[in-house]
Amino acid sequence: MIKFTGLSKVNTAIFISGTGSNFKNLIKFSLLKKSPIKISLLVSSNSQAKGLKYATKYKIKKKIFKFKNQLVDEKKILHYLKKNKINFICLAGFMKILSKNFIKNFKGKIVNIHPSLLPKYKGLNTHYRAIKNKDKFSGCTVHYVTSKLDSGKIILQKKVKIIKKDTPFSLAKKVLKNEHKIYPKAIMKIFTNL
Ligand code: GAR
Repeated sequence: MIKFTGLSKVNTAIFISGTGSNFKNLIKFSLLKKSPIKISLLVSSNSQAKGLKYATKYKIKKKIFKFKNQLVDEKKILHYLKKNKINFICLAGFMKILSKNFIKNFKGKIVNIHPSLLPKYKGLNTHYRAIKNKDKFSGCTVHYVTSKLDSGKIILQKKVKIIKKDTPFSLAKKVLKNEHKIYPKAIMKIFTNL
């Protein structure tokens, strides 16, 4: 794994597709002295992503790749990541599935946040499925990214109680709040064992 010596922070890219609240939260975390990561690049699969504004606000380089041709775009991204000496990737609401080849190039260096208690509810519509199944709890998971969707080793999870009147929307909001708590904690755990 990547070493964090405390002298220089790990050069990190964030990948998003939408609102970017996790991105914003990770930027704030990265600016803390204790944070092991420095965010120097944003990759978005969506040119309209609301989260792009945080890259502008915090003067972080941004690149848009729409994945119309995934093979071509992934090649370009890999080139760009290497050019920018990126050592670590955080997926934060990134709604594309990276290829095996891409993941191989960053083996053990890509993490993701997923809005469910994995291994439950891989993929989409997690909140809807948890409510429909009358689960008592949902939650969120930070995990390593492997070529199997939402199946890599779990780094950290947080449970969130589902109450009777929860809708997929209200549950998503509660879970998102907890995502903002555990993503930085998971990164601390990866690099400093804290
Ligand atoms: C978050 O809930 C994240 O867990 C989820 O998308 C949302 C993005 O919110 N990710 C996935 O569903 C990935 N399969 P954000 O753009 O405000 O960070």
